Amino acid sequence: MRIIAHRGYSSQAPENTMAAFERVAAAGFKALELDVQMTRDSQVVVIHDETIDRTSDGQGLVKEHSYEELTQYDFGAWFGRSFAGERLPLLADVLDLVQDHDLWVNVELKTGAVAYPGLEDKVITMIRSRDLGDQTLISSFNHYSLKAIKELWPELPIGVLYMAGLYEPWNYARTLGAEALHPYYVGLTPELVRSTKAHGLLMHPFTVDKPADIQAVIASGADGIITNYPERVQDALAEKP
Ligand code: G3P
Ligand code: MG
Repeated sequence: MRIIAHRGYSSQAPENTMAAFERVAAAGFKALELDVQMTRDSQVVVIHDETIDRTSDGQGLVKEHSYEELTQYDFGAWFGRSFAGERLPLLADVLDLVQDHDLWVNVELKTGAVAYPGLEDKVITMIRSRDLGDQTLISSFNHYSLKAIKELWPELPIGVLYMAGLYEPWNYARTLGAEALHPYYVGLTPELVRSTKAHGLLMHPFTVDKPADIQAVIASGADGIITNYPERVQDALAEKP
């Protein structure tokens, strides 16, 4: 089972920072998830929210700042004093780390609330130039973004993010040419996982943190698990009879 560290090792370090991504590799994990948005000057940056308010000492929308403006803010101190000085990462910097440590990365395009024209193209160019196509999966709650990715690069795997209890989601996934389903884990059943796999799709539920839920997802036969606590998944897998 692929253990995918959500926003990096975000239970140990501030989410979506280099500190969080470096800790994934340092702890020996092999896969991470991150979120991307775009600055006013069209730089692809790694941040979950549309604004910098929650995770920095600054304020305002990502899209209203230039990247240089955003580098002035602290993205670590909110999590803990020892992380003060963490800066907003560029996707390019994280992809370099992925390449250096031979990791697997799930890039989530945060194109739900703000439209970022050209984001899909920029992300693809960065993945291509590093030859990371076999180590990358693109996901999004905005399935138009996923379709745009498929039109630009048909072989690059995409994962369909969703919250609802979709009926026979593999049928919908086929309309996008998707390789994976990324559902909210609540409501996941072994039957759903079995059918998903029988239709040739990967199942990667998110964001599974409680030990009992981790056990249930492992028992369901899912291919991967997106979690803030990768060590809990590792421990549960080690204990599996
Ligand atoms: O990609 C899985 C998960 O990250 C989706 O939700 O809000 O944590 O980006 P969110
Ligand atoms: Mg995400």
